[in-house]
This record gives sequence, C-alpha cells and structure tokens, in this order.
Amino acid sequence: MNINNSLCWLLLPYFIFLLSLPSSSFSFCNHHDSSALLLFKNSLALNTSHHYYWFVDHFPWLHVYCSFSSKTESWKNGTDCCEWDGVTCDIISGHVIGLDLSCSNLQGQLHPNSTIFSLRHLQQLNLAYNDFSGSSLYSTIGDLVNLMHLNLSYSQISGDIPSTISHLSKLLSLDLGCLYMTFGDPNYPRMRVDRYTWKKLIQNATNLRELYLDGVDMSSIRESSLSLLTNLSSSLISLTLRDTKLQGNLSSDILCLPNLQKLSFGPNNNLGGELPKSNWSTPLRQLGLSYTAFSGNIPDSIGHLKSLNILALENCNFDGLVPSSLFNLTQLSILDLSDNHLTGSIGEFSSYSLEYLSLSNNKLQGNFPNSIFQFQNLTFLSLSSTDLNGHLDFHQFSKLKNLYCLNLSYNSLLSINFDSTADYILPNLQFLYLSSCNINSFPKFLAPLQNLLQLDLSHNIIRGSIPQWFHEKLLHSWKNIAFIDLSFNKLQGDLPIPPNGIEYFLVSNNELTGNFPSAMCNVSSLNILNLAHNNLAGPIPQCLGTFPSLWTLDLQKNNLSGNIPGNFSKGNALETIKLNGNQLDGPLPRSLAHCTNLEVLDLADNNIEDTFPHWLESLQELQVLSLRSNKFHGVITCYGAKHPFLRLRIFDVSNNNFSGPLPKSYIKNFQEMMNVNVSQTGSIGLKNTGTTSNLYNDSVVVVMKGHYMELVRIFFAFTTIDLSNNMFEGELPKVIGELHSLKGLNLSHNAITGTIPRSFGNLRNLEWLDLSWNQLKGEIPVALINLNFLAVLNLSQNQFEGIIPTGGQFNTFGNDSYAGNPMLCGFPLSKSCNKDEDWPPHSTFHHEESGFGWKSVAVGFACGLVFGMLLGYNVFMTGKPPLLARLVEGVHISGLKRTNNRIHAN
Ligand SMILES: *[C@@H]1O[C@H](CO)[C@@H](O)[C@H](O)[C@H]1NC(C)=O
Ligand SMILES: *[C@@H]1O[C@H](CO)[C@@H](O)[C@H](O)[C@H]1NC(C)=O
Ligand SMILES: *[C@@H]1O[C@H](CO)[C@@H](O)[C@H](O)[C@H]1NC(C)=O
Ligand SMILES: *[C@@H]1O[C@H](CO)[C@@H](O)[C@H](O)[C@H]1NC(C)=O
Ligand SMILES: *[C@@H]1O[C@H](CO)[C@@H](O)[C@H](O)[C@H]1NC(C)=O
Ligand SMILES: *[C@@H]1O[C@H](CO)[C@@H](O)[C@H](O)[C@H]1NC(C)=O
Ligand SMILES: *[C@@H]1O[C@H](CO)[C@@H](O)[C@H](O)[C@H]1NC(C)=O
Ligand SMILES: *[C@@H]1O[C@H](CO)[C@@H](O)[C@H](O)[C@H]1NC(C)=O
Repeated sequence: MNINNSLCWLLLPYFIFLLSLPSSSFSFCNHHDSSALLLFKNSLALNTSHHYYWFVDHFPWLHVYCSFSSKTESWKNGTDCCEWDGVTCDIISGHVIGLDLSCSNLQGQLHPNSTIFSLRHLQQLNLAYNDFSGSSLYSTIGDLVNLMHLNLSYSQISGDIPSTISHLSKLLSLDLGCLYMTFGDPNYPRMRVDRYTWKKLIQNATNLRELYLDGVDMSSIRESSLSLLTNLSSSLISLTLRDTKLQGNLSSDILCLPNLQKLSFGPNNNLGGELPKSNWSTPLRQLGLSYTAFSGNIPDSIGHLKSLNILALENCNFDGLVPSSLFNLTQLSILDLSDNHLTGSIGEFSSYSLEYLSLSNNKLQGNFPNSIFQFQNLTFLSLSSTDLNGHLDFHQFSKLKNLYCLNLSYNSLLSINFDSTADYILPNLQFLYLSSCNINSFPKFLAPLQNLLQLDLSHNIIRGSIPQWFHEKLLHSWKNIAFIDLSFNKLQGDLPIPPNGIEYFLVSNNELTGNFPSAMCNVSSLNILNLAHNNLAGPIPQCLGTFPSLWTLDLQKNNLSGNIPGNFSKGNALETIKLNGNQLDGPLPRSLAHCTNLEVLDLADNNIEDTFPHWLESLQELQVLSLRSNKFHGVITCYGAKHPFLRLRIFDVSNNNFSGPLPKSYIKNFQEMMNVNVSQTGSIGLKNTGTTSNLYNDSVVVVMKGHYMELVRIFFAFTTIDLSNNMFEGELPKVIGELHSLKGLNLSHNAITGTIPRSFGNLRNLEWLDLSWNQLKGEIPVALINLNFLAVLNLSQNQFEGIIPTGGQFNTFGNDSYAGNPMLCGFPLSKSCNKDEDWPPHSTFHHEESGFGWKSVAVGFACGLVFGMLLGYNVFMTGKPPLLARLVEGVHISGLKRTNNRIHAN
C-alpha cells in the first residue's frame, strides 16, 4: 500500500458518506425560515381547478400576467429551502429574503399568527393571484420591516389595511391592486385604507417608486392627504389608484411630479381636477383619467409630454377644442378621447406606433384623418358618432393588416364607398360596426373574413333578399360569430339562420316573409333573438322555450299564428318575452310559470283565449304584464301567492272580456306601485346585465293620455294600470289610493258603480285618469284637486252630480272631461250651479279638513311629468348610443383575448 493508496482508503468512507447524502446536506437555508415556510405551506390548500376557472372566467386576458403553477409542491422537509420554487435566500446568511408565490393556486385563510410574518429578513414578498378567501391583512405585516417589494394584488384579501404597514419604510413598490373584481361589483369585498394609515405610510415610505392601489377603498382620504403624494416627488414613478372611490379635486401638482411615468386614476366618478396648463414637461408615458370627473380643456401643454404613449381620457368632463399639439405626439400607441364633449377638427396623426384610437362620440370635425392608413400596427379604431366629413374608400382599411376592431357607425357627414368590385381583405377583423352608414347592399369584403365575431349593419338601406353568399358565410365560414345586427334595413325574403354558437341575433324592423324556420331550433346558443316588426308567418317553433341562455325573445309585430310554445323549461333564462301584435291563439301554456326571471311579458294584440293567468302571480321579477286586446275572460282573482305580482309596474288587461269585480286582491299587493322611492330606483332593461346590457332596448306600448305610445325602453319610474274595455263591475276599491307612484289609471268602458273614493286624492303622481263610460255617481271629490300632475281627466258618460271642483289642474280641463253627466255643474260646463242651492256639504268640509291650500296646489300646475321625463330619457339614450357601449363591451370581454392588457392600461 503506498501512501497514495492509503490516503484513498482513508478518505473512502468520507466519499461514501458524501455520496450517500442528499445534496441538501449542503443546505445553507436558515432552519427557522425553512420550517416557517413549511408551516405556511401546510396552512393552505392547493386548488388548481378553482383558480383556473375562476380567473379565466372573470378575466380571460389575465394569462398575459400569470402562468399558474403550484410552486409549493416542490417544498419538502429535509431539502434546501433555497432551492424551492419561489424562494430566494441571502447567499451569506441563508435567510429567506425573497418569496414569490404569485399565481400559485394557494387557497385558504391567512392568520395573524401565520409563520410567513416571522420571515423578518424578507425584502420581497409576492402573493399575488392566490385566493386568501377574504382574509384580512394583519398588523403583523408591519414586522417585515426589511420589505422593499410587497405584492398582494388579486389575492382576495379584504378589510382594513393595518396601520403598521407604515413601518415598512424601505418599500420601493407596493401593489395591493385588484381592479376588475371591484369594478362593476359594488359589493365586492375591498381592502380599505384610512386617512391616518395613508398619511403615515406616505410619510415613512419615502422611497416608494411604484404604488398600485386599484380597487382599494380610499373614500376616507381627502384632497389634502392625497396631496402628500407630492412629497414622494423624487421617487414616484408609477401610481395607479383606479376605482378607489376617491372624491374631490386632485391637485394638478401630482400630474406634474418630475419622475412620474405612469399615472392612472379612472374610474373614479367623483374625482375631478384639471390638467396643468403650463410647465408640463415630464417623462409621463401613461396617463389614464377615463371615467373621472376631470374637466376643463385639454391644454396645449399636453404636447410637451414627448414620451406619452398612452392617453386615456374616455368619458370625462373635458370640453373645448382638441389641441393640435396632441397630434404631434410621436410615441402615442393608445389614444382614447371617446365620450368627453370635445370639438374642433382633428389633424393628421404623427405617431406611427398608434395601436388603439377611439375618438367616438365627440363633436369632432374635419376630414377623415387619412394618416390612419399608414399605421401598420393599428388594431382598434373607433370613430363612431362624430361630425367627421369627407369621402372614404373603405378598401384603404385593407392596409391595416392588424385591425381587429373597426367602428364607423353614426357618421352622417361621412360618405363611405364600399367598392364591391375591389378584392381586398382585412385578415384580422373581428368586430365591425357599420350602423347608419348608408350601406345599400351587403359589402363583399365581408365574405373572406374568417374571424368575424361581431357584425353590425343595422340602420342602413340594404334592400331585397339576403344574397346566397351571405347565407353561406353565416352558416359555414363565420364559425365564431357571436353577434349580428341587421335590424332597421329593408331586407326581404326568408329569415337567414345563423350558426349555432351565436348569442345575439337582431333582424328586427325589416320586411322578412315566409314561415318562421324550424331550423332556428339548431341555434340553441342564442341569448337575444329579436325578429320584431317583420312579416314572418306560421307557428313559433316549440324549441325556443328550451334554449338555456335565451333571455330576450322579441317576435312582436309579425304574422305568427298558432299557440305559444308550450315547453318553457325549468330554470330558463328568459327575462323578456314579447309576442304582441301577432295572430297567436289558443290558451296560455302553464309552463310560462317556469320563467322565474321574467320581467316583461307582452302578449297584447293577439287572439289568445283563456282565463286570467293567475298562475303567473308568483313570478317575483315580473314588472310588465300586458294582455291587452285578446280574448281573455272570466273573473280576475288571486290564486293565493303570498306576494302576488310583487314587482308589477305595468298591468294592462284592457280590451278583453274580463268580468266580475275589479281585482282588488292584486291591487292591494302592487308594492312597486305603492312605494314612490322603490319605483324610482327599479328598472327594466337599465340594470347592468354584464355583457348583454345595451344590446337590447326593452319597449312596451301603453295607452298614455289617450294615445298609443311606444316607450322605447320602459321608463324606470313608469307605472300604469289599464283595465279598460272589459265588463268589470262593482265599486272602486279604496285601496287604489295607496298606489302612490301610479302615473296612469284607465278603468273606462266597464260597468263600475258607486262613487270615487276620496283616497284617489292620494295618487299624487297620477298624470291621467280615465273613468269614462261607467256607472259612477255622486260628487267628484274635491281631494282630486290635489293631483298636481294630472294632465288628462276623463269622467264622461257616468252619472256624476254636483259642482265640479275648481283649482289646481281642474282649471285646465275642458268640457269633454265631463260630457254625458247631466247632473254636473260649474266650470267648465256652461251649466252653472244655482247659487242658492247649498254646496255639497262634505266637499267643503273635506277641502278644509285636508288642509289643501291653494298655494300647494298651484305647484306643478302646468303639464305632466311624463313628457318631461321622456325627453330627459331621450337625452340619456342619445347621449350614449347603445352601439358604443356595445363596442366597449366587445373590447372588454372578447377583444382582450387578443389585444392583451394594453387596452386596459389606463
Ligand atoms: C421536518 O422534519 C423534521 C424531522 O423529521 C421534523 O422534526 C419537523 O417537525 C418537520 N418540520 C415540519 C415543518 O414539518
Ligand atoms: C376549489 O375552489 C372552489 C371555488 O372556491 C371550491 O368550490 C372548491 O370546493 C375548491 N376545491 C377544493 C378541493 O377545496
Ligand atoms: C405583482 O405581481 C403580479 C403577478 O406576478 C404582476 O403581474 C405585477 O406586475 C406585480 N406588481 C408589481 C408592482 O410588480
Ligand atoms: C393560528 O391561529 C389559528 C386561528 O386563529 C389557529 O387555528 C392556528 O392553529 C394557529 N396556528 C399556529 C401555528 O399557531
Ligand atoms: C417608520 O418606519 C420605522 C422603521 O420601520 C418605524 O420604526 C417607525 O415606527 C415608522 N413610523 C411610523 C409613523 O410608522
Ligand atoms: C412634505 O414635504 C415638504 C417639503 O419637502 C415638507 O416640508 C413637509 O413636512 C412634508 N410633509 C410631510 C407630511 O411629510
Ligand atoms: C407640430 O410639429 C410641427 C413640425 O415639427 C411644428 O411645425 C408644429 O408647430 C407643431 N404643432 C404644434 C401644435 O405643436
Ligand atoms: C409595430 O409592432 C411591431 C411588433 O410589436 C414593432 O416591432 C414595430 O416597431 C411597430 N411599428 C411601429 C411603427 O411602432
């Protein structure tokens, strides 16, 4: 044995020992930290399915941020924690200094004693995109005094941010943002920061460079505390406070912070401010104020922001001219000025990097900016509802190979030439809105579009039958199409059948003929089917009642015949069924009672023969029930539901053969018509139904003040009862007087007897009252002069007697209101009351007793409210055309899959 050999032999056991050990025996991971991590891991569950579905369902575009993996699965006792996924150690001490568990499928509660708070050496902690199930953040967070980066975004942590967060004086970045969950859901549990904590944090963490508090409730923070941000002037680079409930006026100093590159404040509807008029020459790259109350002009100084890349000022209160300096910015890739009241002419753009441009809904003038066609990277272009003029050759858009969304709707001054011979394609186009563009035939360039998702050709002048190629594309090529609107054209011939998968199919107000095709049964994906105002005939296919997602079925004003489909399935989604104005007959199918979400049921103007559908009384959402002009008969009585027709606001059974007493048992349960406040906040078709709001406007025809009126979208405070033209008999129930929000009451052409109850004087919102052609008698109660909004009164053809009350609206009614009542006297009738005769004692008495002074009666003397309200309503409607909202939704919901997060970078 030589020395070498003997050395080998001596060392051999050591080598064997080394080889036998797992590599971790070299572990330099701090033992305390290692077990703290394991205990933290063990306190939580892994839930992969939950996160995948939950996030993807809610935020389909989020995959650009996060790729989910269960990082803690690699954490094993006895191995070196510095090697574990997501863990970073200090090389020298072995302490854990970084922990990135973002997107790790963790689920469970965070406890105050959680061992994670004992990792005192942590400099970086990222728990973003996990599900801590609404846990609070505990004051122990303040123990991690070495933290420089804290990221708890999208981690389902809620409640007060503990004041100890201000101990984290070394913070460089703090991300507690959670935007898309809070936006649109006012009840989503948020994090909250109070004034005191905010102040201490900003004063202590003086090196903060990035601060993201999207979705955090900051409503208690006033302007002065917010201004403390200017004390971070040397450090702050990024600041986003979107949807934080901030109020007041933001100091423009914050917009001028010298190092700020990214700034986002919208949506915060109550946060105002103005843009700096001078000295605004900062490295700002992103400025997002969309959906805030910022106002004033967009100043010329914006042209000094040479690095500006994103400018999102959608839906603010800006007005005045668009500064021309804006068009000189060469770095812009996103420009959104839609909806804010801007005027002036737009110039040619200088930024070749433009990707997203929306100027919709402004009073912008000038020629269509042809520079747009040079921007190869343009993906989104919305120029709807402007005053742009000039001539536009549509085939130019084929230069924009990346364009996926194009909206040119409602540009009455722009003449667009769709050259049908030119051969061009827009390979990526998915959303195309050409409403109201004077199009007179189906544009040929549609044919090669493979990826079309939404197509709007409504309100054009396309005539004649639908060309074969369009039919074919629809059925065979446009596999992904989800939305088609061809309404308000002059289409003739057969109804085209969209492919299964489509959600919205709107072809109303055309001249389509032929039988309702049973092939529609293959399209069970439909959400909205609107074929109203055509000439479709034949029976309605039974299958429609079984479509699982159909929430609006509008077939009104066609020639449809036969029975109403009899198989509405349980759990169906229907909210609106409008079959009025057809030739439908037979009895009503009992399965209608399965439509538990139903809000509007309009069956008016058919030949339906049945008794009153009391079995619908348990539909708790039903707001409109119209059976007008059918062959309904029998007595209307309550079936026994505890709260029958709880939410009904329009009840129209006029022009039928109903008999017996007035339906008192229902009237006394019309809660929605009793409570003025409730009825002001309720809504039909105005509520936010997510992706589908604005796609369909509910409307209903009512007889208002003696005229047929179509209310486009049912006005939210609109309540009427119409029982006219039946054979109701008996007396007027006093309980009618409790329907305080009622606007119209028509009981004419019945056989009602007795007197008008004094309680009618409580119908303070009543605008029209028609009791004509009955057998009512007695005096007209003086209490009625208290109806300040009453614009139409018809008491003719009864047996009223005595003096007509004077004062208030009664001074405005003419003879016609009282015709056919020979025993009435006084103004406006020529028959004066005999002065010697005693005035009816009880009316004088009542007048004084109720204290209706002349002064109060004089208020609101002139005309009724409804017309005023409708006017305001129209302003609302035209203020934001549904298409725009629809477009925005398109972007929010589907568009983002392709365009990633940049669209939302404001
Ligand atoms: C790790 O393993 C050791 C030895 O088996 C054990 O004493 C310790 O409790 C374990 N730690 C954890 C956190 O499970
Ligand atoms: C995963 O999360 C979902 C949604 O929170 C929940 O319904 C499900 O029960 C969870 N799975 C497990 C195994 O806990
Ligand atoms: C927080 O983490 C998420 C997910 O990893 C990431 O997208 C986001 O940018 C992080 N925030 C900051 C301020 O770094
Ligand atoms: C932490 O607290 C929770 C409840 O407050 C308790 O269930 C848990 O056992 C505690 N964990 C430790 C490690 O003390
Ligand atoms: C500021 O930070 C230091 C260091 O963490 C801490 O000791 C001090 O209490 C903090 N001050 C406030 C007001 O939170
Ligand atoms: C903000 O900064 C100013 C000047 O730098 C200083 O005087 C003031 O005390 C600071 N305010 C707070 C609350 O820290
Ligand atoms: C825009 O840029 C051009 C060329 O650089 C310059 O002549 C013009 O004055 C600029 N306009 C504004 C409003 O800044
Ligand atoms: C267009 O986008 C491509 C890919 O993102 C990029 O490389 C190019 O620079 C962009 N062009 C312009 C003019 O910004």
